[in-house]
Amino acid sequence: MLEVSNITKKFGGLVANKDVSFSQKEGEILGIIGPNGSGKTTMFNMITGFLKPTSGHVQFYGEEVSGLQPQTVVGKGIARTFQHTSILPELSVEENVFYGMFTRIDSNFGRCLIRGKKFHDTERAAKERVEEVLDLMELSYRAGDCASSIASAEQRKLMIAIALARTPKLILLDEPAAGTSREEQTELIKMIQKIRDAGVSVLVIEHNMHLVMNLCEHIIVFNFGEKIGDGTPEEIQRNPDVIEAYLGRSV
Ligand SMILES: Nc1ncnc2c1ncn2[C@@H]1O[C@H](COP(=O)(O)OP(=O)(O)OP(=O)(O)O)[C@@H](O)[C@H]1O
Ligand SMILES: [Mg+2]
Repeated sequence: MLEVSNITKKFGGLVANKDVSFSQKEGEILGIIGPNGSGKTTMFNMITGFLKPTSGHVQFYGEEVSGLQPQTVVGKGIARTFQHTSILPELSVEENVFYGMFTRIDSNFGRCLIRGKKFHDTERAAKERVEEVLDLMELSYRAGDCASSIASAEQRKLMIAIALARTPKLILLDEPAAGTSREEQTELIKMIQKIRDAGVSVLVIEHNMHLVMNLCEHIIVFNFGEKIGDGTPEEIQRNPDVIEAYLGRSV
C-alpha cells in the first residue's frame, strides 16, 4: 500500500534522510526505530505532506502523495499522530475528536454552519464516529472530561482517536508509548492490534523495544538518516549494524 522510494531530505547541509526506500503491505504493522535524530519523524513528515522531500517518491496505492498538502494526504487515507502532544487541553475528550475531524480536513464543516439538513447529517455522522473511536480506544468513560485532566497515557490514546476519526486506511503513530508504564504499553499493544484488525494498517515510530518487538511484524531501522536494517523483529535483533548503532562498536 505504501512505497517509499529513494527519499532524501536535506535541511541546508544536514542530511536528515538519505536515499531511503521501504514498503508496507496492506494490513501490516510496520515499525520504524533508530537513535534520536536519525530521521524518523522527518520521514513521517514527508509521507504526510508536512515536508517535501529533496528527492525521491512516496506512493500510496500507486499514487504519488509526496508534495501534496497535509489535508489532501488525509483525504487519501493517511492520518497521523504527532510526537508531541497535540490535543486542545481546554476542550473535552469528545470535543477534541469532534473538532479534530473538521479543523484541518476541509471547509465542509464551515459550509455546513449554515445549518441546513446537510449540517445536521454531517454533525450526526461525526458524533457517531466520535463514539466509535472513543470506544475503540477505551476512552468512552472519559468523553466529557477536560482533555488536560486525563492521564498522559490517555492523552496519547486520545491523539490516536483523533487520527482514527478521519477514517484512515493507514495510520502513522509517532512514539505512542512515550512516557507510559509497562502495563500501559501492554494495553497499547492490544489496542493497536485492534486498530489493525479493524482494517487500518499501522506505521509506528517507537523507542520502546517492548512495544516494538511485541507489536511489529516488520521493522526498519534508521541511523544518521540512512536505513540500516529491514526485516522481522528476530532478524533486526540479530542484525550486527543495528546492534552497533544502538550499543556502540565495542559491544
Ligand atoms: N524542520 C527542520 N529543520 C532543520 N532541521 C531539522 C528539521 N526537522 C528535523 N531536523 C533535523 O533532522 C534530523 C532528524 O530529525 P528527526 O526529528 O527526523 O529525528 P527522529 O529520528 O525523529 O529523532 P527523535 O527520536 O529524537 O524523535 C535532526 O538532526 C533534526 O535536528
Ligand atoms: Mg522523532
